[in-house]
Amino acid sequence: MWTPIRTADGSWTLRDETLGQACHSLSGAWEQARLRYAGPCRVRELGLERGVVRLLDIGTGLGLNLAAALAALDGTGARLEAVTFERDAEVLSRARELADWPAEVEAWLRSAHEALGGEARVGVSIRLVVGDAREQLPAIDELPFDAVFLDPFSPQVAPELWSEAFLAEIARRMTPQAVLSTYSASFAVRLSLARAGLVVGRGPRVGAKAEGTLASREWALPPLEGRLQRRLERRRGSS
Ligand SMILES: C[S@@+](CC[C@H](N)C(=O)[O-])C[C@H]1O[C@@H](n2cnc3c(N)ncnc32)[C@H](O)[C@@H]1O
Repeated sequence: MWTPIRTADGSWTLRDETLGQACHSLSGAWEQARLRYAGPCRVRELGLERGVVRLLDIGTGLGLNLAAALAALDGTGARLEAVTFERDAEVLSRARELADWPAEVEAWLRSAHEALGGEARVGVSIRLVVGDAREQLPAIDELPFDAVFLDPFSPQVAPELWSEAFLAEIARRMTPQAVLSTYSASFAVRLSLARAGLVVGRGPRVGAKAEGTLASREWALPPLEGRLQRRLERRRGSS
């Protein structure tokens, strides 16, 4: 069961009442989608450089992160090719029922939902995979990806999507320059990303959240604080 909540920037999020967790920070769902995901993953820059952006989106939710990716590509002429995973398709139906979005968000969200619904659209292809991402990801053959939005529920309520094995499965599908972004700054998550062969960096502050995490094989990221980096290095090789 999903309950709508209006966030501080006027955009909506939905709360999963079974888990007691909202899909976004209440300080601004659209802000989070743009500043936590589309921006740090360099969606616009990739579009301008390559003309196509292949995106792996974990946790489709309302589709806001996908909408932010489309907004970031506005005017670039680049194509978005995304694969997105969602366990509960009802969240998308509930998102479609929500009215009175800020105008800018509504337009991009509508485009994302049309593509998610399989409508043919110039410059966009979004494949929705419904089911548990852990089981479904190994079966997909679109690879590698230029960017990864890792946006599951928190490790406390959905530990399966933060496991070392699942993160390694994602890392294996990233180009050397691809950037993964997530809101979690937990040491355990960072360690799993490092053990998956990625270099871990600091994600931006967004809203009320102090910092998130970025990870890439080769793209230069804002470094972690020195002591934290050394601790990560020490722990990376040990079990
Ligand atoms: C934080 S919300 C994602 C918000 C979304 N990125 C957006 O832009 O609106 C997390 C989503 O992950 C989904 N989810 C939870 N466990 C999952 C699993 N094992 N596999 C796939 N999706 C899952 C939830 O149903 C929820 O919609």
